[in-house]
Amino acid sequence: MFTSAQWLRADLPGASPCPLFETAFPLPSLPVRATLCATAVGIYQAFVNGDRVGTALYAPGWTSYPHRLQYQTYDVTALLRPGENRLGLQAANGWAVGYLGRGNTQHIFADHIQVLAELRLEFADGSTRVVGTDGSWQVFTDRILSSEFYHGETVDFNCVRVPHGPALPDRPPQAALIPDEGVPVREVVRVSPRALIVTPRGERVLDFGQNLAGYVELRIRGRRGDRVTLSHAEVLDRDGNFYTKNLELAQCRNTYILDGEEQLCKPCFSFQGYRYVRLDEYPFDTVDLSCFVSVAVCSDLTRTGRFACGDRRINQLYRNTLWGQRSNFIDLPTDCPQRDERLGWLGDAQVFVRTAAINFRVDAFFRKWLNDLMLEQREDGALFGVVPKVPGRGTRISAAWGDAAVICPWELYMAYGNTEDLRRCFPMMKKWVDYVHSQGPAEYLWLGGDHYGDWLAADAKLSPEVRQGATQTDLIASAYFAWSTTLLIRAGEVLGEDMSAYRELLANIRRAFHAAFLRDGLPVLCPGFDAASTNRQVLPVTQTAIVLILHFGLYEGEQERRGLLERLVRMIEENGNRMTTGFVGTPYLLHVLTDHGRADKAYDLFLQEKSPSWLFSVNRGATTVWEHWDGIREDGSFWDDEKNSFNHYSYGSVFDWVYGKCLGITPLAPAYRELLLQPHPDVRLGFMEGSVHTGRGLLSVAWHYTPDGVRYEAELPPDTRATLRLPGQSPVTCGPGSYVWWGNA
Ligand code: BGC
Repeated sequence: MFTSAQWLRADLPGASPCPLFETAFPLPSLPVRATLCATAVGIYQAFVNGDRVGTALYAPGWTSYPHRLQYQTYDVTALLRPGENRLGLQAANGWAVGYLGRGNTQHIFADHIQVLAELRLEFADGSTRVVGTDGSWQVFTDRILSSEFYHGETVDFNCVRVPHGPALPDRPPQAALIPDEGVPVREVVRVSPRALIVTPRGERVLDFGQNLAGYVELRIRGRRGDRVTLSHAEVLDRDGNFYTKNLELAQCRNTYILDGEEQLCKPCFSFQGYRYVRLDEYPFDTVDLSCFVSVAVCSDLTRTGRFACGDRRINQLYRNTLWGQRSNFIDLPTDCPQRDERLGWLGDAQVFVRTAAINFRVDAFFRKWLNDLMLEQREDGALFGVVPKVPGRGTRISAAWGDAAVICPWELYMAYGNTEDLRRCFPMMKKWVDYVHSQGPAEYLWLGGDHYGDWLAADAKLSPEVRQGATQTDLIASAYFAWSTTLLIRAGEVLGEDMSAYRELLANIRRAFHAAFLRDGLPVLCPGFDAASTNRQVLPVTQTAIVLILHFGLYEGEQERRGLLERLVRMIEENGNRMTTGFVGTPYLLHVLTDHGRADKAYDLFLQEKSPSWLFSVNRGATTVWEHWDGIREDGSFWDDEKNSFNHYSYGSVFDWVYGKCLGITPLAPAYRELLLQPHPDVRLGFMEGSVHTGRGLLSVAWHYTPDGVRYEAELPPDTRATLRLPGQSPVTCGPGSYVWWGNA
């Protein structure tokens, strides 16, 4: 912690400076332990005697800065030496000071960079000494001339250290200082370029073969003054030209000015979302590909899931989902890593959280973000679309986005079984449900409001202005009201809370929902719905409407259930075995079909190749999951020239269906302690194998079509009980161990 250090600032010109704050101190003898605590308003890297401290990127991380700011603690004992020592912090604008939200808006949380550091030295004789930021620190600039997350970095290797005089003592920021509680961002994967392309426009472009978030590292020796400028893009346009319009106002460009020595070029305080890199400026006629590598950065999460099946397109989809997660789990769950957004959108996180927790260990990662949700939840329980809040983005209080407050803690509890985490989140969950309850105008429905709807669903004419799909938002909001109340009750029961009032509330919501939204067993527009009040086409019966009613159990009786299912299947078939769902309907669609006995239809959709479908993008060479089903259309044109991300993880959530239904791993109790094992094999895939590390050991399930029938295999870790249900066989209970069963093909 900090005892005497003082906040410092630097008075430097320019919009995106990277000041280096430094002090020197003598050490007559080496300490037995040296601990550095550091933080910044902005982002920083610390150095001791010129050596980088640690390997984490973008410290202190992004939290809800008005409330809290993390600091990091490092053991730097090995970096000190007898005699003169130097301690430095180089900083950049990062999230707090830099461009954020819209590519041309800066200073969202603060208008200048600040740093705070304290080095605590402990000597063998028991004495201690503290070297903290104070008026003796000096400010320098060095070769990093400017840096921004969205716009990239400019580095001039010819710039030696320029002194700018003493650092200025500054007022502390309003945020409370807290120890780092996140997962450090690090370089996680390195990808070599696959080809050098010369585009029809005559531009030289490197293809790394993998869309990702990170940066290019280039080892190069040029002449003094030679320039290298790299622009980044996710895709080429239909003519094969470099395409950057979908980055919107983010410039995503790194520039290096060489000094005649061999240099390793990469940005320290910026990252890009890209697969292709254009050499805007490059000093040589020939390009040696072996000098370039694409470095993926991500919160350093432990991989827990493994998956493969007999269809290489689905295996590619799986890889795309992993890459979507890697690219968007950079300190907090974001929507996309490339354009001038990269924000903590609640809806996207809610949709993907279950898949995320299968792929990687994400409890600590989400804990930090959920703590920010709690802090940014309004007194009345409302939550905006984006956390941490960013002016001008995520300004709606929307169903399925705000519901992240309930769904994420519940899903994480089911994945990891941490009751303390659930307890901490419980007040937030409750406040969200209470907020929705207070909305009205009908007591048990959420009518009106300003929602994101079934975002990007294909059943409404999408345009840059209209993206909410055709499902009525009143139905979506009221259905989520019921669902969040259901999960809140489950959470309350785990925690031993008295949930009787919420049970009664749920009964009332269900009754009101049924009366308002179902007639003759099918969804209708809510009485009083005013078509003139909206600029989009709103339909009573949509795939998403039926999916929500079935998945959240909002129908009454067997006849209604069957009618809804039949209608859903008919709508899918009439649409050429294709879905029309968006962010809200898609994550549940295949679950609903499988749960109600139509796994065959779920597989039809899963294996569909025409848009909207998962494999459409795979067949077009996607290496990540797209924001729009038809981000690039059949004819090669773009869905939209601008708002068109090729690295959104949301639809990758289909892998919670793959695990839960195809492999059939359905947790009945948290942390996979109790399971329903009910695989749904499909001959079209030939085989499927999937596993997840549970913390107690590996849980794996596989099925293979063989000439003798379907062979099922399972391995259950210690302290696990499963009920096995195979097609056409009576259930069996089993405990830890390895199993093989046979079933009919
Ligand atoms: C983001 C999202 C988000 C949506 C909300 C988009 O700009 O990229 O994925 O959920 O806005 O409407």
